[in-house]
Amino acid sequence: MPTLFITGANRGIGLGIVERTLAKGWQVHATCRAPASAKKLEDLAGRHSGQLTLHQLELLDFAAITRLGAAFKDRSIDVLLNNAGVMNMAQRRFDPADRFQDFGQTDVEDWTKVFQVNVVAPMKIAEALIDSVARSERKVIITTTSIMGSVELITSGRWHHYRTAKAAVNQMMRGMAAELRPRGITCFALHPGAVRTDMNSAKAPLSVDESTTGIVALLERADLAMSGRYMTWNGEELPW
Ligand SMILES: NC(=O)c1ccc[n+]([C@@H]2O[C@H](COP(=O)([O-])OP(=O)(O)OC[C@H]3O[C@@H](n4cnc5c(N)ncnc54)[C@H](OP(=O)(O)O)[C@@H]3O)[C@@H](O)[C@H]2O)c1
Repeated sequence: MPTLFITGANRGIGLGIVERTLAKGWQVHATCRAPASAKKLEDLAGRHSGQLTLHQLELLDFAAITRLGAAFKDRSIDVLLNNAGVMNMAQRRFDPADRFQDFGQTDVEDWTKVFQVNVVAPMKIAEALIDSVARSERKVIITTTSIMGSVELITSGRWHHYRTAKAAVNQMMRGMAAELRPRGITCFALHPGAVRTDMNSAKAPLSVDESTTGIVALLERADLAMSGRYMTWNGEELPW
């Protein structure tokens, strides 16, 4: 069975992916900031004995990412999924009426940290775990993006911190795909859909179950033909 490594696994889309891959028999390495209080992950570990390993990881701690990479030195990871992300450091939920991150609202520290969590950390994690991915059978690296990162689809402006971070994820994953293709490694950016989690509105169209059912089906068939693409949860492609 394949092995998944996933960040931001304690809630939302990450937790849904962990549940679904465990149910399919995958081995899962799940990271979160506070494993001691990740009750749902603890319950899953109890129900799927020997399948789920929890790791503590704060994405802003780049030295910790390097240490985690060293701990995986002799292990294999089929699918590395950089799922964790933030819209803003205060973790304010998406609300079309909220003027936060609009023109005139630039908060340098917030923007910088949003970039560090969404873009720099996924690159550092990919670098730290590359040997584990390269020695696996599937060899897949995915970073979660958003439709809000599409330059072509932008019509409204606003949410500048998050939009630019996810556009940077797209650019990074396309470049990583080209760089790692000679090693047979598949890399792509994944939009999970607009999902009802703590990040998005309660009126978002997709449930976590709907989104993660599609995502796990995509993980199961991910191959080099998908590399360098901007994929959606249900296997479609978005314009850059
Ligand atoms: N929901 C949507 O509609 C939607 C749409 C497009 C893209 N996305 C993307 O999908 C991914 C998952 O989103 P979600 O909706 O599941 O969000 P969520 O429910 O807010 O969960 C975010 C996850 O990221 C973790 N995280 C945040 N900052 C972190 C940090 N500094 N270090 C380590 N972990 C950190 C959180 O951990 P804590 O619990 O410790 O904060 C949590 O596990 C994100 O990349 C998001 O941008 C979501």
